[in-house]
Amino acid sequence: MRGRPAQGGATDGEILANIVMGQAELHQAYGGVVPEIAARAHVERLDVAMKLALEQADLTLDAVDAVAVAAGPGLIGGVSAGLVFAKAVAAARGAPFFAINHLEAHALSPRLAAEPDGPAAFPFLLLLASGGHCQLIAVLGHGRYKRLGGTIDDSPGEAFDKIGQHLGLPFPGGPHVERAAAAGDPNRFALPRPLSDRPGCDMSFSGLKTALRLEADKLIAAQGGLREQDVADLCASFQLAVCDSLAQKTARAATMFAELSEGRPACLAVAGGVAANQTLRTRLRNVAAEAGLTFAAPPLSICTDNGAMIAWAAMERRAAGGCPDELAAAARARWPLDPDAAPMLGSGKHGAKA
Ligand SMILES: Nc1ncnc2c1ncn2[C@@H]1O[C@H](COP(=O)(O)OP(=O)(O)OP(=O)(O)O)[C@@H](O)[C@H]1O
Ligand SMILES: [Mg+2]
Repeated sequence: MRGRPAQGGATDGEILANIVMGQAELHQAYGGVVPEIAARAHVERLDVAMKLALEQADLTLDAVDAVAVAAGPGLIGGVSAGLVFAKAVAAARGAPFFAINHLEAHALSPRLAAEPDGPAAFPFLLLLASGGHCQLIAVLGHGRYKRLGGTIDDSPGEAFDKIGQHLGLPFPGGPHVERAAAAGDPNRFALPRPLSDRPGCDMSFSGLKTALRLEADKLIAAQGGLREQDVADLCASFQLAVCDSLAQKTARAATMFAELSEGRPACLAVAGGVAANQTLRTRLRNVAAEAGLTFAAPPLSICTDNGAMIAWAAMERRAAGGCPDELAAAARARWPLDPDAAPMLGSGKHGAKA
């Protein structure tokens, strides 16, 4: 990555290389991420990923003048592996070192690259919907995050993955459910819209996932299995229910956000893996138009986890006058973006992960 965040939110960040080495095939048989396998795969692949990135950028290590790495929140084994590797590179180069909050990187990704109205300028309303999180956040400036709402149980990405597994689709389920849904009838199954009657913009996806599973199991009991059309209809009905929930709560958050942005021109942005979903993007574009907001969605390669967004978050910190971190920076399993927000209901006895 080179360049810097420019004034007013437009950016001149240039991605020289963005190598993503997925691990889906290693976790496929288990239907979810196995922490020990993930950590081991990080150790085995990090040096290869860096070599490929330098080759793609046509640079040598001598040209790297800063090192950024995700230091959490997340599964501690994988995070620690990445952190140790990045510290070694920074120490060897004598380069400034940035330990980045992975969620902050997702949150700032619509400022790196986005369509259709260009990169998001501060302040913006963010729907962060990923594999482990779902939050509506007012992003008022670099490091200034106010959580307006979030999920009280599963994230939508997790729900997509679990129903994908139940329907026999490959892992991770999100993109496969979206593909199957394209040939399905979204109105065949009447699924719930959890928490739609509750004021505010908290969300829930766990009951929806169970409702979908019950519909699938009823069909399996009645006809001995699922036909291709059944899977397509189940996926389409599920996707519609998720999008309805997210659109309703985002519209409510837009009303709350209007007070925080004090009438300044503002934007609705979406980030995280679930932001790759085209039906969701279309729904959110409409929510933005109705709320008088522009709309920003990063390209698909910047939605799911990637290194460019981590580098970009470090560049944003530098541009905002922030300092690099000590090489002693620790890996963090939990790291809220808005530390002042009360823990989410259902976040467990250890408190909110984020
Ligand atoms: N087209 C899509 N439709 C719906 N969900 C999708 C789509 N593409 C990816 N996803 C989901 O996005 C998730 C992965 O996103 P991401 O890489 O941001 O998550 P993560 O890094 O594991 O979680 P977090 O960022 O919360 O720690 C998976 O759950 C995946 O199923
Ligand atoms: Mg992520």
